[in-house]
Amino acid sequence: MPTHMQCFIVIVIGASTSAVDISRDIASVAKEVHIADRSAPTSTCEQQPEYDNTWLHSMIDHAQGDGTVVFRDGSSIKADVIMHCTGYLYDFPFLGDDSTITVDDNCVDPLYKHVFPIEVAPDLSFIGLPWKVIPFPLFELQSKWVAGILSGWIKVPSKDEMMEDVKAIYSKQETRGWPKRYTHNFSGGYQFEYDDWLAEQCGHPPIEEWRKLMYAANAQNKDARPERYRDEWNDDDLVAQASEDFKKYL
Ligand SMILES: *[C@@H]1O[C@H](CO)[C@@H](O)[C@H](O)[C@H]1NC(C)=O
Repeated sequence: MPTHMQCFIVIVIGASTSAVDISRDIASVAKEVHIADRSAPTSTCEQQPEYDNTWLHSMIDHAQGDGTVVFRDGSSIKADVIMHCTGYLYDFPFLGDDSTITVDDNCVDPLYKHVFPIEVAPDLSFIGLPWKVIPFPLFELQSKWVAGILSGWIKVPSKDEMMEDVKAIYSKQETRGWPKRYTHNFSGGYQFEYDDWLAEQCGHPPIEEWRKLMYAANAQNKDARPERYRDEWNDDDLVAQASEDFKKYL
């Protein structure tokens, strides 16, 4: 990190996992870090306990041409850097207007199991749409499933069956009152069910138990010691199980 960072004032927009990680890393090298959190009450301006140069604010109301950022409570900061940690919007301009999928409110529709556009399955597939997941094991299983289907040893269901499955998911979402943009948001434990389903299709054993436990232990650790969760943890037994497991691949 260049030393001139030390005089930078950085605004981080967003307060989810990436924003938290990134703001901590920046805090150790920047002059000040200000986090804008849309869920924080308007009057929020709290110095964060972990770092004496980090503050949590309400969302930004507007920014001015000279870099001044005004929060909802009217307070302002002159920023050198504004960093968006606000997630991603799905966009597939290369598929053209007549493509068989649409993206509405960040939901790619209609996709069978978040992978296959029903109309053209299995000729087109999407790997890696689900978010709030442990990405790489999930993407690997999706890839294996697609490879199995393309090589013909795993069958794709009929269009009607796929459509029924998609409709069932949407109606569940509606019952829960969830907006469309939650469609590929797997928070709430759904990812492991999905991983295991994919694994089963591919004739794979289910996701290792230690991965699930480690995911939960990490979340607990983060709540218990927000300042030190990246340096201290107490699931060494799970780490040992993982190393034991990895030896199989050597
Ligand atoms: C993701 O979905 C959960 C419900 O499982 C919801 O509480 C959460 O706010 C959603 N996250 C985002 C960023 O939309």
